Amino acid sequence: FDPTTPQYLTSDRSSFASVSADDRWPVIITGAIDDLHRTSLETKDDEKAKEGKSIIEKLAKLKYELQHNKNLTPLDDDGYSDIASYNQELEQRGNPKWHDVPWLYAECYLYRRMETFFALSKHWKGYDVFSRQKMSTFKSSRPAVLELAARYRELAQEAESGKGSEGKSAEEIEQAERILFSEMCEICLWGNATDLSLLTSLTYEDIQKLQGTEARKASQSNILVNDLDAAFDVMQKARREKKDGERRVDIVLDNSGFELFVDLILAGYLLSTGLATSIVLHPKRLPWFVSDVTPKDFADLLNCMVDPQTFYTAPDDSDKTHPALSDKEVTDVKFLFEQWSELHQDGKLIMRPHSFWTTQGCYWRMPRVAPELFEDLKESELVLFKGDLNYRKLTNDAQWDPTTPFTTAIGPMGPKSGIRVMAFRTCKADVVVGLPAGEDEKLRQLPDGGGSEARKWAWSGKWAVVSFSDGKA
Ligand code: F6P
Ligand code: MG
Repeated sequence: FDPTTPQYLTSDRSSFASVSADDRWPVIITGAIDDLHRTSLETKDDEKAKEGKSIIEKLAKLKYELQHNKNLTPLDDDGYSDIASYNQELEQRGNPKWHDVPWLYAECYLYRRMETFFALSKHWKGYDVFSRQKMSTFKSSRPAVLELAARYRELAQEAESGKGSEGKSAEEIEQAERILFSEMCEICLWGNATDLSLLTSLTYEDIQKLQGTEARKASQSNILVNDLDAAFDVMQKARREKKDGERRVDIVLDNSGFELFVDLILAGYLLSTGLATSIVLHPKRLPWFVSDVTPKDFADLLNCMVDPQTFYTAPDDSDKTHPALSDKEVTDVKFLFEQWSELHQDGKLIMRPHSFWTTQGCYWRMPRVAPELFEDLKESELVLFKGDLNYRKLTNDAQWDPTTPFTTAIGPMGPKSGIRVMAFRTCKADVVVGLPAGEDEKLRQLPDGGGSEARKWAWSGKWAVVSFSDGKA
């Protein structure tokens, strides 16, 4: 079911795969150990603290195996059916070593293995070692959150009063909607630049810079492929043709915190303009790639927003206190909270977890591995795949020629699949497709572009692609 084009390997010195295995993953495991250590110290339950210690030992062993290039070992059975498939594939791949294994498989294995430690414990089931980090980064997104909350409320009020469309022709209104759609999508796209698994190389200041309006405007020319117009066209057509019918949009979520916040801004916008009548959100079943959204993260986000004053002004991890929010800022954030809670209660904003999203394979396998999910996605007008990992999974993290059409690289998810795919991705890995001829070569010539050796320009999240495939056409 997978394409024949070879995948990126952790042994490939010119790929971000080897940087990940050498530098990023040990830091991520160390962060997990620190977090667990801290929570174990805080717990009053001795038995739980003791068990916490034994999980720390397992994490340390995992780190040792990674850093000493040992073989990946079969996962312990924690009762979920995906374990057998992880282990079967491990065997098929010849029980590889950490520094000579397909990047995609190994990285999924890493998070799945960590999960088994908690799932098999007595006191730590469901514990998320990344939760603390996710929350504190969301806190540091305060300026961008406040800016967007204000902008969103202004737009919603304008729409309600009909002020924005007064005296405008139908074409002018359509044009304005198209522009706003692009703006919302771009917000949603660049929200993906702030992924915590890359935090090992980004500072909080860098993150804040990536999130504001100015940054977004400046980054417009960094969108190398931009199919937003095509997406707007199909959604507008659906709105016209199925005026009173169901028009569902799916978002295969990526990161929590700020990125989830902007995903919900887009969701609210699509619902309020009638471009969609329901939004189905697809979170991860377990802590994944550090910052990915779990159902609990969604609840946590809403909880922060119900009382933004407390959330944003309480001392943070560095014991810093923050200035109080103004009354307007509090009202802006609460406005969003109320809207989202209402949409959730009315069944217009739905969370639908599925274990497929945390399996090890690419999405070429979906029709075989998760046929019911594949069928379900056909019901949607548009399926938005957020972020880098989703893009790697759509394309099998394979070494495609960068001019390969997106529709080819996504295989069974492409033409005639019955699924409309839209990938929103800031580039944080080598794989990239759909570029015009010569573009990759040009980007490689930039300072830090990587030259003929490597596609370094594609590792930093600075460049983006928004690619569309109309599987219903
Ligand atoms: O490039 C770093 C990395 O962690 C990749 O391993 C992974 O594909 C990606 O970033 C995760 O990013 P995102 O959260 O955008 O999927
Ligand atoms: Mg992620």
